[in-house]
Amino acid sequence: VSREYLTFEGMRVPANVHTVESLTYAWKEFVTRDDDVFNVTFPKSGTTWMQEILTLIYSNGDPTSVKTEYSWDRVPWIEQYTGRSKLENRPSPRLITTHLPFNLFPQSFFKTNAKIIYTIRNPKDVCVSMYFFSLIAQFLEYREDFQEFVSLFLSKDMSYAGWFDHVKGWLSFKDNPNFLLLTYEDMAKDLKSNVIKICQFLGKELDDAAINSVVENSSFKAMKDNEMSNYSAVPDYIFSKAKGAFHRKGISGDWKNYFTPEREREFDKIYQDLMTDVNLQFA
Ligand code: PPS
Repeated sequence: VSREYLTFEGMRVPANVHTVESLTYAWKEFVTRDDDVFNVTFPKSGTTWMQEILTLIYSNGDPTSVKTEYSWDRVPWIEQYTGRSKLENRPSPRLITTHLPFNLFPQSFFKTNAKIIYTIRNPKDVCVSMYFFSLIAQFLEYREDFQEFVSLFLSKDMSYAGWFDHVKGWLSFKDNPNFLLLTYEDMAKDLKSNVIKICQFLGKELDDAAINSVVENSSFKAMKDNEMSNYSAVPDYIFSKAKGAFHRKGISGDWKNYFTPEREREFDKIYQDLMTDVNLQFA
């Protein structure tokens, strides 16, 4: 595989799984249904976690599906070149993943009653998670040196419109009743109350045993051990196992172990400049 990127409407994305056709399909041609549920994230913010949670909620806590079907088939990415074939003829309700920024999201969504769950994570932890993932994933731009990677993360070259524009774009939609905003940090602190919140948002009534099963089967440990969601099935030339595991640490605040004081100051300055009218708290 190559670490090539393509640019679509100003957004850079890895060229291995995206094409202009697939991005155009997601944006302009995809027909949203009223009962579609979208798992929206900037990469490394809890995407796979939400894929697992949603699968489990829709199976009423029964883990059969998460243990027998790959996460990327259960809750596929709409913008990847496999999106159309995986989603078009799928029975409702469809669970759909995307990293697309707000301005390139399926336009048909806005004429429907479909729902969006947007999960955000402390951008410094996103940066650390992405640094390690880009060493594993042979199709991603990387920098051997972490402090240099921070510069890439903060630059206009960052994939999916970059963290700042992604979050600001999506937060402009936050008062819509079909939009649920969650944070990785809250989920890490109290997964059960977040699962209950998601069920309420989706109008899914699960009893306590089912809720507990969702929580247990979507824990970091359960997912790290689940071959259907830990990406161990992906061949080594795409995900190099020698370089690490997809389920790395699964904690909040790991950034403190990697940012130098200089890089932290630079990051905070850019955050303050760009996120002026946004009030977000990360644990
Ligand atoms: S991707 O590539 O965009 O789909 O990655 P994404 O799934 O968004 O993010 C990967 C990080 O999420 C952590 N993770 C979890 N944390 C807690 N609990 C559960 N169940 C869980 N599943 C995945 C994963 O470990 C990555 O974070 P880091 O900090 O690198 O460990």
